[in-house]
Amino acid sequence: MDFMGPARYKWRVPKTGQSEINGATRICAVYGFPVAHSASPAMHNAAFAALGLNWRYIACEVELKRLAEAIEGAKVMNFVGLNLTVPHKLLALEMVDQLDPSALRWTAVNTIKFEKDLDGRVKAVGFNTDADAIATSLAEDLKVKLPGAKVLLLGAGGAGRTAALKLASEGVAELFLVNRTQSKADELAAEIQRQFPTVNVSTTYPAGAVDLLLNATSLGLKPEDPMPLDEAHFPLKHARAVYDMIYRPAETPLLKAAKKAKCKTANGLGMLLHQGAKAFEIWTGQPAPVKEMRVALEREIYKSLVPAKASRPKAKKKA
Ligand code: ATR
Repeated sequence: MDFMGPARYKWRVPKTGQSEINGATRICAVYGFPVAHSASPAMHNAAFAALGLNWRYIACEVELKRLAEAIEGAKVMNFVGLNLTVPHKLLALEMVDQLDPSALRWTAVNTIKFEKDLDGRVKAVGFNTDADAIATSLAEDLKVKLPGAKVLLLGAGGAGRTAALKLASEGVAELFLVNRTQSKADELAAEIQRQFPTVNVSTTYPAGAVDLLLNATSLGLKPEDPMPLDEAHFPLKHARAVYDMIYRPAETPLLKAAKKAKCKTANGLGMLLHQGAKAFEIWTGQPAPVKEMRVALEREIYKSLVPAKASRPKAKKKA
């Protein structure tokens, strides 16, 4: 998750790919609304370059009501595949020709691969690479062992739902779901209870310590946001590790406070990376160059931003 204000639109023109675009170049794209903030083009173009593929990845701003047309358009233009981001992941379930088990399992589509039938007709196959990326990033970045773990999950929106279901499927012992809108937490808890009866789910803050606190709310994206956690109910020192799905800014107030409380911390960059790596493998059938993809993401998200003050010329004092 990330937030970039309108300043992003005035940002420098990014470098084009490392080699020329020509008549044989194939296209992948991310569809979202908005989408100009996306770091996926940097990540995937670096991966294509690393493997010497004559492919390019672009970002397209697509309105929700035109998603079906945009998917058809990509088919017609022989695109390799698509990523879908907010707000398209749910609606796409009904717009693809076939759902991979991953999309059925997590009831959302974030990756589409276009495949040609024997008769030459192109079909869109929908996948979900988000859910697995959560578990991969938690293991890699925080060394969290999910089976048997106690987890406090903040947020029951799209990201919170996917995280809760994935954590339950990995065999967490206890799941505490806390959300501003209580009814959404209750609905999600009921769904988990139905699908994973061995997981102990509640919709309140835990009384004791947890192995992991996971923020899946959008609080922390904007500088003026309040903390997603009520420390009067749950002091951070009771969490062994804290993961914030937000990756821009790199350190949210929650992560800052968690570090101060001596928790292990990680932001959502690993999730973004691993959902992209899996999508890359679906499209290419080859292992993703994860190292290059991470470097490109970090450069795109953290290193190339011009500080707001430095980019503005100083106003001249009146004589
Ligand atoms: P995403 O797809 O990124 O998960 P979402 O489905 O809109 O986006 O979910 C946003 C999450 O952040 C929800 O859990 C939302 O809480 P509600 O379900 O009560 O809306 C949470 N959230 C957003 N703004 C919030 C705020 N100001 N205070 C508390 N929670 C907030």
